[in-house]
Amino acid sequence: MSTVPQANIPVRVTRAEKIADGIHLFEMRHRDGAELPAFTAGSHINLQVPNGLMRKYSLCSDPADRSHYCVAIKREDNGRGGSIYLVDNTKVGDEWMISAPDNAFALPQRGDNFIFIAGGIGITPFIAMIHALKNDPAKKFKLYYCSRTPEMTAFREELSAPEFKDKVVIHYDGGDPSKALDLWPIVEERKNREHIYCCGPRGLMQAVRDATGHWTPTSIHFEAFSESEARREDDTPFTVKLASTGETIEVPAGTTILEAMRAKGHAVPSSCESGTCGTCRTKLLAGEADHRDLVLTENERDSQIMICVSRAKSPELTIDR
Ligand code: FES
Repeated sequence: MSTVPQANIPVRVTRAEKIADGIHLFEMRHRDGAELPAFTAGSHINLQVPNGLMRKYSLCSDPADRSHYCVAIKREDNGRGGSIYLVDNTKVGDEWMISAPDNAFALPQRGDNFIFIAGGIGITPFIAMIHALKNDPAKKFKLYYCSRTPEMTAFREELSAPEFKDKVVIHYDGGDPSKALDLWPIVEERKNREHIYCCGPRGLMQAVRDATGHWTPTSIHFEAFSESEARREDDTPFTVKLASTGETIEVPAGTTILEAMRAKGHAVPSSCESGTCGTCRTKLLAGEADHRDLVLTENERDSQIMICVSRAKSPELTIDR
């Protein structure tokens, strides 16, 4: 079960540099010179921002190299201040506290072909995946990387190297939705043991979800880099009834069902807490849900709910807990 991440590993920033407009790369090493914990491609760490916030960032360094980790952080002007603080104030030599890596976006053991679709700063987990796959001839991947302009494209040089000539497509749309990447030719055919991984803005992930109705849901994997879908300004309170006991729990605006249940002492499994991994899947027995996840198919939405992000349209939901 996921718990509040403990940022208990002291690291020192050993590299801090701008790698694209608004995007900075930070390399960190253990403060005491020790090896950092092992991680698998797709992992993230939680970083205790010196201003008090806790933020989650995908690792984008080579999982085989435990001497350091790297994260790439986009300065989010409309964020809650974590990325702005880190980008504006971090310099080489600073110390951070981070959690051990966790992975809600892992590559499967049984998979030979991978389609990676990245939007903007959603490229970061794929950099670690490419490191992990590039020397394994049995695994094939193709990365589609959507960005507005070359200047806003992190890792552009690295991904333009000759070794990635047939494996990486960088698509520039100039911010014009009519020039968005055409997904259909990419997902139309499905090869044996093929998986799609997508990380990027919600609109891109929804477009991938919509275009892949003919794929098996377990072959499609999403990772969100913002929790915006879990909380919206016009959210209203509702109640959740637990079918096993009849207990009724208030879910205020700004609080998820998962958080409200935990506040009442219920142990509820979770992982991504952004509506993408499927861990918190719960049977919905009564009431109308406001679904905000990327996991459930249309057919599942009447009878199931992802309680880390989804809310209620009706005053009460009854769930099978
Ligand atoms: S915890 Fe991942 S979908 Fe809810």
